[in-house]
Amino acid sequence: MERRDFIKAGVIGLGAMAIADTATALQFYPKKSDKKWAVIYNTWCGSSRDAGVWISEGMGGIADVFDVRENPDLSAYDHIVVGGSIRSNTVSKEMQDYLTKNRDILKDKVRGFFCVQGNRKQPTGPENVKQLIDGHLSVITGVTGVPGRCFNGRITLNLLEPNEFKMMSEMKMDEYDYMKRVDFLEFGKEILASVK
Ligand SMILES: Cc1cc2nc3c(=O)[nH]c(=O)nc-3n(C[C@H](O)[C@H](O)[C@H](O)COP(=O)(O)O)c2cc1C
Repeated sequence: MERRDFIKAGVIGLGAMAIADTATALQFYPKKSDKKWAVIYNTWCGSSRDAGVWISEGMGGIADVFDVRENPDLSAYDHIVVGGSIRSNTVSKEMQDYLTKNRDILKDKVRGFFCVQGNRKQPTGPENVKQLIDGHLSVITGVTGVPGRCFNGRITLNLLEPNEFKMMSEMKMDEYDYMKRVDFLEFGKEILASVK
C-alpha cells in the first residue's frame, strides 16, 4: 500500500470511530481486487478476530473483515467466509441469528467456514469439522461443499467475563495460545484457490 493510501485509511478509520454505531469493517486493502470478499466472524475475547484477519491476509489481504455484532449488510460482496469462536459447542447466538436472518444473501456466496475452539487442548481434526462445520454452520446456512476448518484457539484469562473467569479458575484452566498464524494464512490461500 502506498504511504498516502495508508494514511488515508487511517483517517477513514478515525472517522469511523467517531460514528461507532455504524457498521465498519477493518477496511484494509494492501492489494486491489476486482472481486469483493468479506470475512465475518464472532468472538468473545479476540481469537476469531485475529483468525479473520489472518485468513484475509492469506488471500492477499483482499477481504473486508467484519465482527458479526456490526450486523453488516453483505449483499454487495461476491464471496463470503463465515466463522467464529466456539462456546458450548456452538458459535455465538449473535452469529446464529445473523446467519439465519441473512440466509438468502449468504446461500450462494459462502466460500468457506472456520471455527476456533479449545478442543480440550487436543489438536483439532475431521471430527471437529464434522461436528462444528458440517453439523452446525452448514446446517444453519444451508451451504455445503466449501472448504471448512477447525483451528485450536486460545484463552486470555483477563479478557473473560467474571462468570467465565470464575468457571475457568474453578476448572483450573490456565492461559494458553495454540493459534498458529501460518495455518490461517494457508486456509485463506486454500479458499481463494477453490473459487478460481
Ligand atoms: C466459557 C467458554 C466455553 C468454551 N466452550 C468450548 C466448547 O464448547 N468447545 C471447545 O472446543 N472450546 C470451547 N472453549 C474454548 C474457546 O473456543 C477458545 O478458547 C477460543 O479460542 C475462544 O475464542 P475467543 O477469543 O473469541 O473468546 C470455551 C471457552 C470458554 C471461555
